[in-house]
Amino acid sequence: MLKGKHIILGVTGSIAAYKSALLCRLLVSAGAEVKVVMTPLAKQFITPLTMATLSKNPILVDFFNPENGEWNSHVKLGLWADCYLIAPATANTMAKMAEGVADNLLLTTYLSARCPVMVAPAMDCDMYAHCATQRNIERLRKDGVHFVEAEEGELASGLVGSGRMAEPQHIVDAVVKLLAEKKKRTLDGKHYLVTAGATIEAIDPVRYISNHSSGKMGYAIAEELAERGAKVTLVSGRTALDKPAGVERVDVLSAEEMYEACVARYDEVDGAVMCAAVADYTPQQVASEKIKKGEGDMSIALKRTPDIAAELGRRKRQGQLLVGFAMETQNETANAEDKLRRKNFDFIVLNSLRVEGAGFRGDTNVVSLIDSASREDLPLMTKREVAARIVDKIEKSL
Ligand code: CTP
Repeated sequence: MLKGKHIILGVTGSIAAYKSALLCRLLVSAGAEVKVVMTPLAKQFITPLTMATLSKNPILVDFFNPENGEWNSHVKLGLWADCYLIAPATANTMAKMAEGVADNLLLTTYLSARCPVMVAPAMDCDMYAHCATQRNIERLRKDGVHFVEAEEGELASGLVGSGRMAEPQHIVDAVVKLLAEKKKRTLDGKHYLVTAGATIEAIDPVRYISNHSSGKMGYAIAEELAERGAKVTLVSGRTALDKPAGVERVDVLSAEEMYEACVARYDEVDGAVMCAAVADYTPQQVASEKIKKGEGDMSIALKRTPDIAAELGRRKRQGQLLVGFAMETQNETANAEDKLRRKNFDFIVLNSLRVEGAGFRGDTNVVSLIDSASREDLPLMTKREVAARIVDKIEKSL
């Protein structure tokens, strides 16, 4: 996701600097080249050796190397970077940044950087809440600095509150998102419908039938489409995920509700990606009161739900695109090709539950993209990367 990206990781003197090690590792694993700049105090919290080993580059702390006088050019560094990430950022460093103070390499690099700057603050809750700190954050925001908000939790001081540096994975996600915003807006003017998540079929007021879908794949597609400039309507069943930025979300519960929401909007969109795990059956009757248990066994009569994808396939007009998903455990290709034809999809994303790293709850997936003329087997990738490949294929078909 960050393949080929140059990132400067600035580390300041906070106890949260121990998390910078993991952060650096995650950035490198995501494909970024990382150079670490530390303030003199940061070295007391985490060793340059750790950061140099993880970043695979020497650590920069001083303006020049005292042994041979070699100059560490903050100007060159600032030009090299695609993103300058300062994590953790102390109240002191943020105050200096806001004032334009340039008394260490981390700060001179900030003043020289032409790339987007992202800051993850870390400090005690009272320091974080202090009007001086908040004023500096506000000033930096106005200067165009991006923030990954500190999180609530137990702090090194023993107090509980807001001030804990965001988790490294959240910071990496924020960097990916920030850099993606600079992506070409190749889908400007287009409008897509995406279904995601699990439907909920009520049995009575307390029980329901559902499935293990987390919604991650559909949300990643919605996010990718939006980042490329498309308008996105995300019809979402149950998930624990936050609404992606710039996406309109329509919350539904049952397959019937999802059907209504999709059919009502399909005419106005350029295409739809059917990622939701829709229940194929729903109770014939929803009990108005909680069903009480009896002595013997019990069964619930089920009826078919409407097939949303098939209905959109019937309604599809010239130029409209319809993408489906198939999650199979056997006869995968034949079943997927059958669905491709039956539901009138332009292409189908085949998910095999038999492959490690693919499927429901995880962050990775292994899929094949199949259309009537070709098949592309993708290797193990994050769901975000899979989403990018799916959207690439959507773009190609335009
Ligand atoms: N789908 C849908 N509405 C339904 C059922 C499925 O929109 N009621 C969509 C899914 O979002 C997915 C595709 O159809 O894009 C495949 O769904 P799946 O349930 O795997 O296929 P079925 O045709 O129901 O076949 P089977 O149950 O035999 O696997």
